[in-house]
Amino acid sequence: MNSVSQSLFAALSAGIILLTSACGESGSGKNGNNTSSSSSSSSSSASSSSSTSSSSGIAAQGLAAKYAGYFPIGAAVSSYHLDNLSAIVATDFNHLTPENAMKIADIHPAENTWNTAEADRIADLARQHGWKITGHTLLWHRQAPAWMFAGLTPKDPASIEILKTRLKTHITAMVERYADVVDNWDVVNEAISDSANKTYRDASEGSKWFEMFGSQEYIYWAFKFAQEALEAKSPGSSAGKLYYNEYTVTLKTAKILTLLDYLKNKGIQVDGVGSQSHDNLSWPAINELQTTLDAFVAAGYKMKISELDVTVYADYATGKFVGEAEKIFDTTLEAKQAARYASLFEFYRKNKTHITSVTFWGISDDNTWLDNEPVKGRNDYPLLYNDAHTAKAARGAIMNF
Ligand code: GLA
Repeated sequence: MNSVSQSLFAALSAGIILLTSACGESGSGKNGNNTSSSSSSSSSSASSSSSTSSSSGIAAQGLAAKYAGYFPIGAAVSSYHLDNLSAIVATDFNHLTPENAMKIADIHPAENTWNTAEADRIADLARQHGWKITGHTLLWHRQAPAWMFAGLTPKDPASIEILKTRLKTHITAMVERYADVVDNWDVVNEAISDSANKTYRDASEGSKWFEMFGSQEYIYWAFKFAQEALEAKSPGSSAGKLYYNEYTVTLKTAKILTLLDYLKNKGIQVDGVGSQSHDNLSWPAINELQTTLDAFVAAGYKMKISELDVTVYADYATGKFVGEAEKIFDTTLEAKQAARYASLFEFYRKNKTHITSVTFWGISDDNTWLDNEPVKGRNDYPLLYNDAHTAKAARGAIMNF
């Protein structure tokens, strides 16, 4: 596994700065479970959990069944989840996102090397149950392999053409292999700047893509190649499937709309915005979520909740980073988190016509990237199941409405 790099981004909201972060690879969980996809062997055999599913592919008693009239309930998964939580996967979820397995560095680590084992395993499980998956992600500044940029000179026209060819080859191959089971593609992930005075993430914020193109034009090409590959495979099939995915979306709404306008002016109709939703116990406020959703809906876009988790920490509550000491997940904290999950899901249900899926970034607290970001080795408890894979109050809170 690559070393876990840290990228911290500040979120300013109502006088509170919340720091969330994206990790290069989701870190090892509490049990030292490596959630990277790099070493798994392929298996498309039936999950042992399939017998718990109904013929519709949704277990009768689970979360996915409860939300059948609302939206698919997804989970980001790796081989760890398929090996250790298969019964929960089949009971509560009917949509999957490969946590790392489809990122370019994982699945296409060298120009002529493909490592599709884990992504295939996830895709096959979904096919077997009749579920769909998220194609996460066709372009991201992180987990981008060195070969993609090798030998290229920033802003050099010939280099840009080579980079476009490499990107097109990658995207076309991904679409060829997984289009049948992907119902939404995170075509581009995290291209918006965290700085107040910039719209787009540039080289100073780690984007080799922006550096090479000298502009945000790479975003256009990613969407163009994805759309073309889908249309070439099956005319009309790109409709509804092209998403832009981002974190701290409530703070970046205007900038994301600028990006979507830019793409629209170049002939690309993006279908929706993925709000990662790495939330905490109080941020973002529900009214901020509603304002953001209303703005995207008014502009003609769907939304999906793409990477939901609710950390118990608020390291930026003072306005600058002060890593909180590790907390004990006692019944008071559990109840507080359950109440927060309940209000988030109330908001999602209320807006179900505009929300195409709700996906958790993991399943159980023993395997979460938040154990290592933004504070390495600090236990967090952001998900619906605890370390022992027992349902927490949060699951009950979103089931009982
Ligand atoms: C970002 C990415 C995800 C994942 C998380 C951390 O949100 O979109 O793929 O890497 O960071 O697990």
